[in-house]
Amino acid sequence: MNIQNEKVVIKRIETPGTDIVDSLCTDIETFMGQYRDSKPETHEAVTIALQNGIVLEAVREGQRVGIAVLTRTRFDRFQPHYHLAYIAVDATCRGVGLGKKLLQEVEKVTRGNVALHVGKTNSRAISFYEKLGWRTHYLRMMPPQRVQHVAD
Ligand SMILES: CC(C)(COP(=O)(O)OP(=O)(O)OC[C@H]1O[C@@H](n2cnc3c(N)ncnc32)[C@H](O)[C@@H]1OP(=O)(O)O)[C@@H](O)C(=O)NCCC(=O)NCCS
Repeated sequence: MNIQNEKVVIKRIETPGTDIVDSLCTDIETFMGQYRDSKPETHEAVTIALQNGIVLEAVREGQRVGIAVLTRTRFDRFQPHYHLAYIAVDATCRGVGLGKKLLQEVEKVTRGNVALHVGKTNSRAISFYEKLGWRTHYLRMMPPQRVQHVAD
């Protein structure tokens, strides 16, 4: 797709509902590709973000081409207010600044009070975050019985 970044609008989705949850989950799974989570995990994150977080979509000519899903944590100080559960761009629209536009909006709406987990083998995403100034502060470690549920 020959996509022009300036024609893309970032919108906040504020209307919860089964249809929007299903449509977001389908697009997240597609856009995340090999790094997607299971359907129940994606469904849970999207549902909770729509109830008490922030969901952003990048739209071009009526078509969703990128998504950012932020869940609200319950902390004021111990951890950032928001967890960036997903940020993903349609594979045919990557490399033209859409991810950057979405991540800058994430920084704006959260006032920088946000953190994320990224799979340690997802070097493309890690390079993307680092290019935009994000830095690794912690490693996420889990016990053996959880490892099988975690896609890295
Ligand atoms: C990560 C992702 C969101 C980046 O989106 P994108 O639209 O392709 O990124 P952009 O075009 O906005 O790039 C922004 C900057 O990051 C840099 N960048 C993007 N991908 C990069 C890569 N693979 N290596 C190095 N730099 C990269 C770009 O060069 C650009 O730098 P610039 O502003 O100096 O030009 C996209 O690749 C994606 O959806 N990946 C699959 C889902 C995923 O893994 N999400 C993260 C889960 S934690």
